[in-house]
Amino acid sequence: MTVDGKTTTRNFTPVDFTSREDKLHLFRQRALADAVLIGHTSLKRDNVRLGVPLELQKARRKRGQTPAPIRVIVSDKGKIDNRLKIFQSNISPIVIFSTRRMPRKYQQTLAEKAVLHLSNGEHVDLAVLLYTLLDNYKIHTIACEGGPTLFRSLLERGLVDQLNLTIAPSMFGGASAPTLTGLSKEFLPASVDCALIDMHVVGEECFLTYQIKRQRRRRN
Ligand SMILES: NC(=O)c1ccc[n+]([C@@H]2O[C@H](COP(=O)([O-])OP(=O)(O)OC[C@H]3O[C@@H](n4cnc5c(N)ncnc54)[C@H](OP(=O)(O)O)[C@@H]3O)[C@@H](O)[C@H]2O)c1
Repeated sequence: MTVDGKTTTRNFTPVDFTSREDKLHLFRQRALADAVLIGHTSLKRDNVRLGVPLELQKARRKRGQTPAPIRVIVSDKGKIDNRLKIFQSNISPIVIFSTRRMPRKYQQTLAEKAVLHLSNGEHVDLAVLLYTLLDNYKIHTIACEGGPTLFRSLLERGLVDQLNLTIAPSMFGGASAPTLTGLSKEFLPASVDCALIDMHVVGEECFLTYQIKRQRRRRN
């Protein structure tokens, strides 16, 4: 995020405001996980493949892992474009968690490229998603790469263990530019306390690692 806490611009355009070192940091974190998780809006806006560079694939193999983490997409409405770049890469399986709101046409085309888990109801239940990944795919560690809306939902449910945060030397301003926890005007249901467990500076960026502590049941 920027110095003023923004994670994207008001137009939600892909913005390149962090360094090459930060991108490597992202790849390294991704490569440690059994699965990588992304919200539909970030997938659509950033059009990422969620792969892993060759060198990190080798390191994973040495650790007895598959070459790349499985790629998990969350979408309530399910209108995911099957021409996105993620579907052109077969580096690892793709799993989509959505609801029966996903139009039949999308169900047919996406089922050719991914495994679909469609639940009843309006929204994907993120705790059920995590249990399904554990039970069906033996996934123990998940790297969530955002966006802010998905991150906030995970926080609200108490489903985040660790936050890796890079502070980049920019400011965007703007009330309509999402912060780390999105755009919601509402307070979180409870304050989330974090323990700083690592901090280092590379160039002009600060790399922080927070352990998320148990959430306190009180208003902010
Ligand atoms: N600076 C960074 O590190 C960083 C990282 C990631 C993304 N971004 C930026 O963030 C922006 C997008 O973020 P965003 O907050 O708008 O969206 P997001 O979190 O990427 O995706 C939100 C979407 O995920 C789906 N979803 C399904 N279940 C959900 C649940 N329980 N909770 C939340 N979402 C759920 C919904 O998709 P449907 O609408 O399909 O139902 C929802 O609209 C992009 O501009 C991207 O570039 C920045």
